[in-house]
Amino acid sequence: MIETMYKEKVDLTRVPQHIAVIMDGNGRWAKERGMKRQEGHVAGTQALNDILKPVRDLGIKYLTVYAFSTENWNRPEEEVNALMALLYEKLDVNKFMENDVRFRVIGDIGRLPKIVQDVVNNCLEQTSNNTSGTLTVALSYSSKWELVEATKKIARRVQEGKLNVEDINDKTINESLNASFLPDPELLIRTGGEFRLSNYLLWQCAYSELYFTDTYWPDFDEEELCKAIWFYQQRERRFGKTSEQVIESTKEQQVNK
Ligand code: IPE
Ligand code: IPE
Ligand code: MG
Repeated sequence: MIETMYKEKVDLTRVPQHIAVIMDGNGRWAKERGMKRQEGHVAGTQALNDILKPVRDLGIKYLTVYAFSTENWNRPEEEVNALMALLYEKLDVNKFMENDVRFRVIGDIGRLPKIVQDVVNNCLEQTSNNTSGTLTVALSYSSKWELVEATKKIARRVQEGKLNVEDINDKTINESLNASFLPDPELLIRTGGEFRLSNYLLWQCAYSELYFTDTYWPDFDEEELCKAIWFYQQRERRFGKTSEQVIESTKEQQVNK
């Protein structure tokens, strides 16, 4: 019996608008092949470039990928340098243009080497009018860094008399985040077999559905993406309510359509 591909199982009317990905497992992918960790990162870059078209075809508006964390600065210098060189060489503006993708970044970009910052800025500028989707790359990013920076911004506004402490709410925090331009991801995917968030989008993923796969990032392809979306579509998102309430409101929405 031929198994149905997940690509055919996905309900195209209920695809998440924002998917966040922790692209993990490049090093192990390379090691298992007797290659250097760096070569795993090269393969990982290719996997990211290759997923852009399926993302667009599925109608996913936002893809946000974790490429380099604040903690990754603590890796051996040789690996950090190789990753920086890869960003410099492989951030492919043509690929973004081809897929009509707007490129954005979140993270402490000032810590990146100047030549990498220049490439990043060039991609930001050149793709700023693309409208089919947004690819956000988290570079030198961590959630705690983002929340600390947001807190400083808010504190400054209070200090300057522009904001009352009592008026601080969810929205104030959202607006102060580095990723303020992103809606919350409905789905978070982590490849590479670990069950943790590694300081990624902690505020934004408060109510995201989580999907973990053993597949290493360089092997993650369209079919793997569809599998993750299919699993997401099997879940009931209750947001604190009861299952009965969710079913009732879905029925009402269908009537009002
Ligand atoms: C993810 O792959 C990419 C980065 C963190 C830059 P890893 O390099 O963490 O690969 P593993 O987890 O060691 O296999
Ligand atoms: C998370 O992967 C960061 C990225 C994928 C860029 P890590 O490999 O750095 O995470 P830990 O160390 O296993 O938590
Ligand atoms: Mg890892």
